[in-house]
Amino acid sequence: MTEPLLEISGLRTGFDTYDGRVRAVDGVDLTVHAGKTLCVVGESGCGKSVTARSILRLVEAPGSIDAGTITWHGGDAPFDVLSLDVKDERLARLRGGDIGMIFQEPMASLLPLRTIGAQLIETIRIHTGLDKRAARAKAVDLLGQVGIPKPHERIDAYPFQLSGGMCQRVMIAIALCADPSLLIADEPTTALDVTTQARILDLIRTLQAEHRMAVMFITHDLGVVAELADEVAVMYLGRVVERAGVDELFADPKHPYTKALLASVPVLGRDRGRDLPTIPGAVPNPLHRPSGCSFHPRCAEAIAGTCDVVAPPEVDFDAGTGFADRRTVECVLYADREGAPA
Ligand SMILES: Nc1ncnc2c1ncn2[C@@H]1O[C@H](COP(=O)(O)OP(=O)(O)OP(=O)(O)O)[C@@H](O)[C@H]1O
Ligand SMILES: [Mg+2]
Repeated sequence: MTEPLLEISGLRTGFDTYDGRVRAVDGVDLTVHAGKTLCVVGESGCGKSVTARSILRLVEAPGSIDAGTITWHGGDAPFDVLSLDVKDERLARLRGGDIGMIFQEPMASLLPLRTIGAQLIETIRIHTGLDKRAARAKAVDLLGQVGIPKPHERIDAYPFQLSGGMCQRVMIAIALCADPSLLIADEPTTALDVTTQARILDLIRTLQAEHRMAVMFITHDLGVVAELADEVAVMYLGRVVERAGVDELFADPKHPYTKALLASVPVLGRDRGRDLPTIPGAVPNPLHRPSGCSFHPRCAEAIAGTCDVVAPPEVDFDAGTGFADRRTVECVLYADREGAPA
């Protein structure tokens, strides 16, 4: 088992709205291991981005982090990110230094009126202390590494002069400026065509191997999960409902939500000419959380009188096979099953 690099425990993050407090992240536990890839998967609105932003304390008003600990093990001594003073230099070192982050909206994260080079060089200088010339050389090198042709020319381009895929690569270059030990990538390829998407995924994999970096990869695409993940956390309405090593998850999905997600992925050959099953209903508004298990109104295996009443227990299976740190499912169906503790 590899060392934990980042441990999130009992994280709760909410937003005040006119209708009440939205519990966007409602008690999340996650571990990212050094050098490994954790994929976080789930439908839109389940709290993936809010979890990622909470790690770097980038949740803005009307949102705030209500509870939990986020332990960073990548430094000399472990510390809780959530208990740091906002001016603590360890927080500044994490943001863009030890932890690189690719945000979900690349165009919104690049400043439109500054060249990509200026933005890259500034980040490099903040985190490495290189002088201007050396930082520019490193920026050109990074742009080359992320597959931008003629990087010594493109470095002086403005974001609007580059395609969406190129801007995405620039975002990756910025995230990698300080050789982070963890890269958090929030849906980094969703807006791209499949060819560019495949190239970017290859790129992340190559860079991960070269830099021995851990990756927390957020996606709703199970094809991407199958390609990249060592471990997977499946989220539903602000909670992790299942976690497993990637092979276990695909071979033996346990949570009815995970099974439904997997069933809705087309298989080449098998699904020709037939309608794919979809998960009935939509993710409920987190302001009006269903009672009991929040997935029960959409669940094919829900037990009336139980699932709509009691909160499901988190069942811990033996990690046993594969790489997974823990194999857990939050579902009453497994509460008394063999393999689960009493
Ligand atoms: N600024 C905000 N104000 C109020 N609610 C918010 C705010 N930001 C996020 N939320 C709520 O928090 C919940 C989780 O949002 P989050 O962006 O983490 O979802 P996500 O899993 O990343 O979805 P997607 O796949 O669409 O990116 C959603 O219900 C959303 O409405
Ligand atoms: Mg998101």
